[in-house]
Amino acid sequence: MNPFNVAVIGCGAISGNHFHALEKLDTARLTAVCDINAEKANAAADAQHVRACTDWQALIQDPGIDAVHLCVPHWLHRPMAVAALRAGKHVLCEKPMGMNADEAAQMAAAARETGKALTVCFQNRYNPASRRMKALIDSGALGAFLGGSAFVVWNRGEQYYQNCDWRGRWRTEGGSVLINQAIHTLDLINWLSGGLRVTHGRMSAHRLAQTIETEDTCELLLSDAAGHRCLFYASNCGVNNLPVQLHLTFEQGELHMDGSRLTVKTPDMTALEDYSAQVKVGKDYWGSGHGPFIEDFYRRLQAGEAPAIPPEDALRTMRLMDEAYRADTSERRRPDNECDPPSRTE
Ligand SMILES: NC(=O)c1ccc[n+]([C@@H]2O[C@H](COP(=O)([O-])OP(=O)(O)OC[C@H]3O[C@@H](n4cnc5c(N)ncnc54)[C@H](O)[C@@H]3O)[C@@H](O)[C@H]2O)c1
Repeated sequence: MNPFNVAVIGCGAISGNHFHALEKLDTARLTAVCDINAEKANAAADAQHVRACTDWQALIQDPGIDAVHLCVPHWLHRPMAVAALRAGKHVLCEKPMGMNADEAAQMAAAARETGKALTVCFQNRYNPASRRMKALIDSGALGAFLGGSAFVVWNRGEQYYQNCDWRGRWRTEGGSVLINQAIHTLDLINWLSGGLRVTHGRMSAHRLAQTIETEDTCELLLSDAAGHRCLFYASNCGVNNLPVQLHLTFEQGELHMDGSRLTVKTPDMTALEDYSAQVKVGKDYWGSGHGPFIEDFYRRLQAGEAPAIPPEDALRTMRLMDEAYRADTSERRRPDNECDPPSRTE
């Protein structure tokens, strides 16, 4: 079978992880790159030896393209995904799945209507420690879930926001630490616990209050259907980018993830599993999941199978994220009209 012809739209910070993953595949080949900034498009095209384009709407009409990767600012995910699906393309969208659950639902509906594949880049599910936790939980060896906690302490300073025209604004980023950095960990705890709801939520801006409209810190109390609680804390006010910590307690054991190290406790033993020797591409806090995630997407597509992270699954995490923003009653809360599109041309 011929490889899928792929275009990457958005040649910014994360695009390198997509290029690197695609280089290794025989199921897909990079055919074109697109960025509204011609310099960035041309630089990526030269490095990848493919053609450049600056008009994503023209690109998605190209019959020579089978799939697009959306590596653009959050507010562009929904319009680009829906248009690309309707143009007959498969879509691999960077997280988040749009700006909120409503946009995510529109993306999922477009995938259902068109029969094209849509997946969302929650690549941390493919980190070895995540896969190991999921396999242990699904095996039933740990018994019922009793609760957990997650901590994301990273460092994003003024320059990260000031050197960028879309971060730190409700209408273009849709939030900050929760929707952008901690959404991976929210997705992991939601996925591994079997599904959570928000009981309490609080957003604040401590260090970046003068720089961003959005939150730099988020504190949540979550609960599963049986009332087992999970504490969730995320902040961009850290001094470093610390390894993400996730702790899950079960009737028959505990799982403690500290970055790429996993401690598995059962009544009989405590074992430390260290996955930190994995080859990494890009920043280490992005994990090593882009490669296996993208490989799996095209392997399944070629086999006629649905993506491992189908739209309905990613939508569950977007709903949880929305509940968190809605639970916040602080002055920092997300405005009701947060999804009004910016006046710039899409
Ligand atoms: N999965 C991860 O771990 C991870 C890590 C970093 C970023 N991301 C996500 O990747 C996406 C991009 O983030 P980034 O950090 O690369 O941002 P970035 O600002 O570095 O890059 C975005 C690029 O999109 C381009 N762009 C903007 N409007 C466009 C348009 N209309 N047409 C074509 N190109 C356009 C910009 O010129 C820019 O080059 C975001 O959704 C972000 O959350 C994911």
